Amino acid sequence: MSEKLTTNEGQPWADNNHSLTAGNRGPVLMQDYQLIEKLAQFNRERIPERVVHAKGAGAKGVFTLTHDMSKYTKADMFNETGKKTDMTVRFSEVAGELGYPDTLRDVRGFALKFYTNDGNYDIVGNNTPIFFINDPLKFPDFIHSQKREPDSHLRSQDMQWDFWAHSPESVHQVTYLMGDRGNPASYANMNGYGSHTFKWVNANGEQFWVKYHFIAEQGVKNMTEEQATKTASENPDYLIQDLYDRIDNGDFPKWKVCVQIIPFEEGLNYKYDLFDVTKTVSHKDYPLQEVGEFVLNQNPDNYFDDVEEAAFSPANLVPGIEASPDKLLQGRLFAYKDAERYRLGANYEKLPINRPKNKVNNYSRDGFMSQGQDGSVNYEPNSQDGPKEDHNAKIAPYEVNGNADHYDTYAPDYYSQAGALYNVYSEDEKQRLIETLKSTLGTISSHENKVLETKQFYNADHDYGTRVAKALGLDLSEITK
Ligand code: HEM
Repeated sequence: MSEKLTTNEGQPWADNNHSLTAGNRGPVLMQDYQLIEKLAQFNRERIPERVVHAKGAGAKGVFTLTHDMSKYTKADMFNETGKKTDMTVRFSEVAGELGYPDTLRDVRGFALKFYTNDGNYDIVGNNTPIFFINDPLKFPDFIHSQKREPDSHLRSQDMQWDFWAHSPESVHQVTYLMGDRGNPASYANMNGYGSHTFKWVNANGEQFWVKYHFIAEQGVKNMTEEQATKTASENPDYLIQDLYDRIDNGDFPKWKVCVQIIPFEEGLNYKYDLFDVTKTVSHKDYPLQEVGEFVLNQNPDNYFDDVEEAAFSPANLVPGIEASPDKLLQGRLFAYKDAERYRLGANYEKLPINRPKNKVNNYSRDGFMSQGQDGSVNYEPNSQDGPKEDHNAKIAPYEVNGNADHYDTYAPDYYSQAGALYNVYSEDEKQRLIETLKSTLGTISSHENKVLETKQFYNADHDYGTRVAKALGLDLSEITK
């Protein structure tokens, strides 16, 4: 039997279909508290969407450690083979708003939250191992160029190529995005990457650099441009639905968790700057090592509670895992929690999906919607046996030096890895890449930007640049000079 309908305050609700009126044809009465509350509540249903990665799909799952990593990190979840750690995951588009079609070409977000015994650990990555820029100062400008024009409110090829043409560090990621992986066939068919270099520290204080790779056991599959465009109109929520249906049908998607481990000193002297997120680390130099596997086996109980209110942050680190000096990562350590305080409110970490599984003990209190507080001491130092610091959680020291200044970002070789990626592509994929560039870069209004961007492709690989120039009808002498 159905339960009784009540108001939010638990009072029985007599009529949910007919407003209280003065007479059969009379006006609605102010006294109709249930009507007024219902309309007021409805007006407040929407919260700000994420400023980027607004549209996404989420699921819950579990990570199993298959290879003990205590040699490299003391992080609890990576110690003791067989250990299981609960997790929540959110995949997303980057540029589109809530409601935007899922399958239009874009980088895809790959955000993981592990509820470890030492608190929450998040890896907030993408389906690409690199990024467009490597200085956080450029992020708001980059995203403006990806979103909508201030006057027309339209998305604009002119804006995005204007930014990329003047940001040569982007050419590696642009080559990725415009290739086949810019249109994943499903969230289950894409690999994920932590992208940045992170630091692992073992129980003896030894430090290692680490890169994360999440390899889809379903295989990597992509849509053609035509399939993606057609699907966008047939089912704008295609990727959300695909993930939901797989899990609902018991066809649980799985990823192998692998790492590249780079010894500390070697990493500082590696041929590419390890802290430049526009670069990858060669698998030949540092092969992938398998660590474990995660499976997504539970759909959200409620999308808003479990996905929209989920708050991931690269600053959610645990003992044994630390940030590297990567400048972009350093900017991100601030940006996410600030965004989440704005988007969800000061106490967003107390929402069930964001709450760690271990007990939270500190001296922060109150704020909007605070809950679960007791009368325990709320200042330190104190004589009341309040919670004490854990010095084992200190970061491992490493040397930094130099003058404070605005430095050029990293080594200016933005081209050789983009060229290498181009040459990993099969001839068919190269052809599709050139077609995609023709239908995007080829449509912009600025001849100067077409030339600037094509020069980047030429610097990456002469064949690449020459083919793009030809497809765009550019004079090769403009590109090579
Ligand atoms: C979401 C900022 C670079 C992956 C977000 C959000 C902000 C943000 C403010 C929304 C957070 C929220 O409201 O919950 C930045 C800044 C960056 C940067 C300032 C550079 C300085 C990156 C990079 C990656 C990335 C390099 C991947 C390697 C993601 C993902 C999400 C996200 C996956 C969605 C998380 C979710 O599913 O809730 N970013 N981002 N971002 N970002 Fe970044």
